[in-house]
Amino acid sequence: MKLFLDSANLTEIREAMAWGGIDGVTTNPSLVAREQRDFFPLLKEICETVHGPVSMETTCRDAAGMVDEGRVFAKLHPNIVVKCPLTKEGLSATRRLTGEGIRVNVTLCFSAAQALLAAKAGAYIVSPFVGRLDDISSDGMELIREIRTIYDNYHYATQILVASVRHPRHVVEAARLGADIATLPFGVLEALVRHPLTEIGLERFLKDWEQLSATSGRKGL
Ligand code: E4P
Repeated sequence: MKLFLDSANLTEIREAMAWGGIDGVTTNPSLVAREQRDFFPLLKEICETVHGPVSMETTCRDAAGMVDEGRVFAKLHPNIVVKCPLTKEGLSATRRLTGEGIRVNVTLCFSAAQALLAAKAGAYIVSPFVGRLDDISSDGMELIREIRTIYDNYHYATQILVASVRHPRHVVEAARLGADIATLPFGVLEALVRHPLTEIGLERFLKDWEQLSATSGRKGL
């Protein structure tokens, strides 16, 4: 499974690239707004930093506007994947952009029926939001299971990107269910690394090593 970073913050992106082995980045208007920077230079810098797809969301409600915006984003860098919302207008824009060879990530997906329509529109990626479903007492991971089954039944090539990830169990479950990608906030990526037994184990090993060095009078290797 590929791991993307769900962030528009260049410090986080650079750090995640160094140790997290991330394969791409997803952004959304809220994440970009948080950065308080001129939008196009920021987007370009993100694309030049990441060796993989960078999703950027259109900000219009109508298909024509989404198509225009999508074309502008796509020209900016080959890594760009244009995000369109899962609405009638968004699906229509997806068809048109896909027809022009522009990759589209259909976002804000909350049902298997919506995911079926995204695949039929030719989406490169579909983004079901598991955390937001869990927040309203629905079952986000069950949605991933349903979409995986449907896409496998009909050999749809659209990649399932698990979005709105809140904790490491979401990531593990996404991988168990055969999702293609999970996009993680930086905090969740950090949480994937940590385990108390790793920290306790390392402390013990290093303490024993220090004791040996003290008794043998030997410093380092
Ligand atoms: C995905 O592309 C979205 O940016 C993101 O996962 C939304 O997550 P949230 O529900 O934490 O805002």
